[in-house]
Amino acid sequence: MPRFIAVANLKGGAGKSTIAVNLAGVLCDKKHAVTLVDADVQGTSTYWASAGRLPFRVLTMAFETARDARKWAPKVLELEADYVVIDCPPHVGGASEAAVGIADLVLIPVTASGADLAATLKALDLVHEMRESREDKGPACIVVPSKIDTRTALGREIGDVLEQLGEKVGPPVHQRVAFVESFGQGLWIGDYEPNGPAYADIEELGAAVKKALKRL
Ligand SMILES: Nc1ncnc2c1ncn2[C@@H]1O[C@H](COP(=O)(O)OP(=O)(O)OP(=O)(O)O)[C@@H](O)[C@H]1O
Ligand SMILES: [Mg+2]
Repeated sequence: MPRFIAVANLKGGAGKSTIAVNLAGVLCDKKHAVTLVDADVQGTSTYWASAGRLPFRVLTMAFETARDARKWAPKVLELEADYVVIDCPPHVGGASEAAVGIADLVLIPVTASGADLAATLKALDLVHEMRESREDKGPACIVVPSKIDTRTALGREIGDVLEQLGEKVGPPVHQRVAFVESFGQGLWIGDYEPNGPAYADIEELGAAVKKALKRL
């Protein structure tokens, strides 16, 4: 059975697709097969993969209605891989609920803006609801500071603010132009700039994800 990791937040542009694609890249190696499920009708990760330069499989499995959700989850649960990473859409609805419902681990990227925090509380509510209804009391959750600019006070303080949410806070993914450029090239960061600081962020995030999954 694969480990299922949903990258979700009900806020647009928080860095979900960037984190999903790059996490899939860092989890995938000779011993571990990764499938990235694009559950967002916007198709950002599908587009990222369209140049054929990502080292893992990307499946477009987006849907809008709750009725489709009932068909979606069993299909995703049948996928063969060591890790299945799910890139969620930025709104409450069937796809985010279904993904959080089957996930072992949910990553919630949060930028330093106040508006993001409000949406994050809603995403956390979804995680808490699932924990109440699921027998395994899952999913686990990591809040990931995303697009962080440490030159600003907000960027420096966001970690402390997020600690108060009561969930694990992951290593930050900083605001770096290499993430935008790698998307433009259809590459994940490890193939675009393997010695750069953006890759170092993703490597740390990958280690935090593996550690959290080991504890389950
Ligand atoms: N760490 C980062 N540094 C710099 N730019 C970033 C970073 N993460 C994301 N971006 C840029 O911010 C924009 C939104 O990122 P992304 O598409 O990953 O967010 P999203 O949460 O998936 O958005 P949506 O809600 O639309 O699905 C993109 O232009 C992306 O290149
Ligand atoms: Mg996206």
